[in-house]
Amino acid sequence: MSALDEYLASFAGETGYLNWAAFGPLSPAVRGAVQDAVEVLSGFSMREHQSVNARVGRATAGLAELLGAERADVVLRPSSTDALQHALYGLSGTVIAAAGEFPSISLTLRRAADASHGALAPRWIEPDHGWVTTDAVAQALDDDVTAVAVSHVDYRTGYRADLPALRELIGPERLLIVDAVQSFGIVDEDWRAADVIAGHGYKWLRAGRGTAFARFSSLARERIRPVLSGITGIDSDGPFTGAVPSPAVSARAYTTSVPDHLAGVRLSAALDQLRAAGVPAVAQRVTANVDEILAVAERHGIRVATPTDPRRRAGIVSLVPDDPEGLGRALGDGGISATVRAGAVRVAAHAGTGAETLRMLDDALTAFGHPTFTRA
Ligand SMILES: Cc1ncc(COP(=O)(O)O)c(C=O)c1O
Repeated sequence: MSALDEYLASFAGETGYLNWAAFGPLSPAVRGAVQDAVEVLSGFSMREHQSVNARVGRATAGLAELLGAERADVVLRPSSTDALQHALYGLSGTVIAAAGEFPSISLTLRRAADASHGALAPRWIEPDHGWVTTDAVAQALDDDVTAVAVSHVDYRTGYRADLPALRELIGPERLLIVDAVQSFGIVDEDWRAADVIAGHGYKWLRAGRGTAFARFSSLARERIRPVLSGITGIDSDGPFTGAVPSPAVSARAYTTSVPDHLAGVRLSAALDQLRAAGVPAVAQRVTANVDEILAVAERHGIRVATPTDPRRRAGIVSLVPDDPEGLGRALGDGGISATVRAGAVRVAAHAGTGAETLRMLDDALTAFGHPTFTRA
């Protein structure tokens, strides 16, 4: 069996699951790795403990490879919001962000500005459809702007921002800060367009919570003060003697304490399998499944808020029927897991989403269209 076939086979049992944008059930590889590691950490061999702890380094190396980054630029974090806090609290100047972004950007930027004694200011934009296009950013750009913070894929509509175009627009001197939560692992992207990338492993990587990470480019490290630097944020390992050292020159400056080793085990297991299967092949399957969902929605006359252009979307499709609550109930009755929120029904397909799940979606939409059903 090829690595890709093995990866796809690991989705066995996903029937009806279209909620990957909220949570990705742990993959068998992740489950197996963490179970083994729990046994090792329950034993009394320091050498074996070390073999578990070393998986943090393996996860970091795997991330660096996938991000096209230096290993020293990448750190593991407990959540992507934590990673964005490190990025935004240390910034000064004016940061462009969409007001409707997931709170890990909007709320964090607001709080960071409030704590900055006037050094940092958000510049909120409200682009059409909530899509952070280059045109929308261009209208807000001036000499005060030091950074743009954006979700690579919008959690509501599934719109995928054009990172190379945003980079070209803002130039090499401003920071591009990207929340890659809804794209990392399923989109074939040249991540080097961004200075800061924050992501996590509990959705599309199927690695469970606590598996977040960040990349800080050298420009980002120059511009972002490591205001939340902790005991692991220095160049040396372990306690120091004498004066308190300066923060590390590498991205570890943006760490606080020793990472969760079991999270490192889960993340490295997920990344090993992903790298073996190959992100381009995974991305291709996600695109094909989303194509099919869009075709199903169109057949049933259900409006979507997601771009049709495959380059501007990833795994999320936002359905916006007249009666989203009713559609949500119909999907639930049809055995489909989805997220109903703010007037939309969000479905999200992964590479391993099978034909049976897509057929169930089709059937549930057929039931939704039935007049007596919608009145019920
Ligand atoms: C775009 C986006 N960013 C951030 C988060 C939250 O990430 P974390 O729980 O790692 O802070 C989510 C969660 O759904 C999200 O969709």
